[in-house]
Amino acid sequence: MLYIGIDLGTSAVKLLLMSGDGEIRKIVSKEYPLYFPHPGWSEQNPEDWYSQTMEGIKELLEDQDKSQVAGISFGGQMHGLVILDKDDKVIRPAILWNDGRTTAETDYLNEKIGREILTQYTANIAFAGFTAPKILWVQKNEPENFSRISKIMLPKDYLAYMLTGVHSTDYSDASGMLLLDVKNKCWSAEMARICGISVSMLPKLFESYEATGCVKPEIAAQLGIPEKVVVAAGAGDNAASAVGTGTVGEGKCNISLGTSGTLFISSDHFGVDSNNSLHSFDHADGKYHLMGCMLSAASCNKWWSEQILKTTDFAAEQKEITDDKLGENHVYFLPYLMGERSPLNDPLARGTFIGMTMDTTREDMTQAVLEGVAFALRDSLEVAKSLGITVKTSKIVGGGAKSPLWRKMIANIFGITLEIPKSEEGPSMGGAMLAAVACGEYPDVETACDKIIKVVDTEEPDPVLMKKYEERYQQFRKIYPAVKALFPLIQ
Ligand code: XUL
Repeated sequence: MLYIGIDLGTSAVKLLLMSGDGEIRKIVSKEYPLYFPHPGWSEQNPEDWYSQTMEGIKELLEDQDKSQVAGISFGGQMHGLVILDKDDKVIRPAILWNDGRTTAETDYLNEKIGREILTQYTANIAFAGFTAPKILWVQKNEPENFSRISKIMLPKDYLAYMLTGVHSTDYSDASGMLLLDVKNKCWSAEMARICGISVSMLPKLFESYEATGCVKPEIAAQLGIPEKVVVAAGAGDNAASAVGTGTVGEGKCNISLGTSGTLFISSDHFGVDSNNSLHSFDHADGKYHLMGCMLSAASCNKWWSEQILKTTDFAAEQKEITDDKLGENHVYFLPYLMGERSPLNDPLARGTFIGMTMDTTREDMTQAVLEGVAFALRDSLEVAKSLGITVKTSKIVGGGAKSPLWRKMIANIFGITLEIPKSEEGPSMGGAMLAAVACGEYPDVETACDKIIKVVDTEEPDPVLMKKYEERYQQFRKIYPAVKALFPLIQ
C-alpha cells in the first residue's frame, strides 16, 4: 500500500509518497506566499495551503498506482491561529508561529493570570507565537472577526478538515495552543474561559496515529484515489519530524534546522522544566517531549545569503569557510530576526552583528551567521542539561542539515555526535509513517520507527575544536544580556 505524508511548512508544503516498507517513492514541493504585514508579524492564507496541497497531491500521484493509496497524514507548522465562521469559511489570514504581535497578551497571561496558573492548567507558560495569546489579540483588535468565530484550528487541521469534513487535531500540535492540559490530554476549560472562547469551538482530540475519518467522496474523485483512504490526525511538524527520525521513547534527541530551529527530546514520562524555558508537550507516539524552539534558524542563512549577499548558492558561499577558521571567528551574530522564543521569550529581540574590524571578510560574517544559530540553539541544550538531561547523540534534519559545515559546527558547539538519517524529510516522512500506523501497516509508532529509520552517516565532535567553541559560546552568551535593553528602543 502507499501512504502520503504532508509537511505543511512555512515556505512550502512538501508531499512525500511512502510504500508500506518505508521506501520513499516520490517527493513534491509547492510554495505559497508568506506575508509580513508589519515588522514582526507573519501571516499566510489557509486557502493557499489547501490549493497547493491539492496540486501537490495530484503531481505526487500522476505516475503512480493511485488505487494503492491507503492513508494520508500530516506534520504541520505549529501554533498558527486559523479561525472559521459558522459556515466553516476562513475569517482572516492565519497568524503564524513566528508572529510577534502578542507582546501585550503574552504579558497579560504570564503576569496577570500568572505563570504558575498557566503551568498548572497547561504545563506551559505563554510565548508570543502560541495560539492562546493570538486569540486574545483578535478579541481586542478585531472584535468583529472575534464575534464570528465558530471553530479554532491549527494549520494542518484545516487541511485535514478540507479533506475529511471532520474538525480534528492531535495532542502534540494541540499542546502548542496553550489551551490543552498536556498531562491529562484534554482541553482546559479554564484556559478556554481565560481566552473568552468555549471548548466547543476547539476541534476533537486524537492521538497522532489515529484515523479521524476518510477522504470525502468529492476529494477522492478529484485526486483519483479510493474513497476509503484513511486520514490520520498527524502531528505538529516537530513531533512528526521526531517520528520521521526515530526520536521516540525515552531520552532521544532530534535537532531540526528548518525555518525554525528546534531541540526535541522525547520522553516516556510527563515532565515540566521548572523555568518553563522548554515547552512540555505531548508526543506523536502517545507519550511526551520537551522542546526548545528558536524562531529563525536556516532562515537566518537564507536571509543573509539571499537578501544581503544576493546569492542562492549557499554551498559556494560556505566553501571559503575552511576547517582552520572554525572556532577562530571574532564576529558574532545574534540570530533573533523574528524576536526569540526559547529560551529568551523576547519578541522584541532583533538580529545583531558584533565584533567586526577593518579586516573582517564576507566569509567571517557568513560564518558568524551559521555559528550564531548553533550557539542560540545550544542555549536550549543548556536548559535541558540544567534539568539533568544528558544528550550524547542526536539526529539532525531540515534544510540546514544538508550543509556539512553547519553540521560540523553544531556537533562541536554542542559536543555531541550527530546522526544523519537516510531521509532528511522529517515531518513529511513522519506524516506518512503515522498514516501507515493508522492503517494497521505497523502496530505502533515505535515499531514503525524501528523498521523504517536508518542512519547513514555520523558527525563526531573533535575535542580540540570543541574546546575552542566552548570559549566562543561563553562569549556569545554575554552579548544578548548586554544589548537586550536596546531592543525596545529601536522598534
Ligand atoms: C515549534 C515552532 C516551529 C514551527 C515551525 O514550537 O513554533 O518549529 O512548528 O513550523
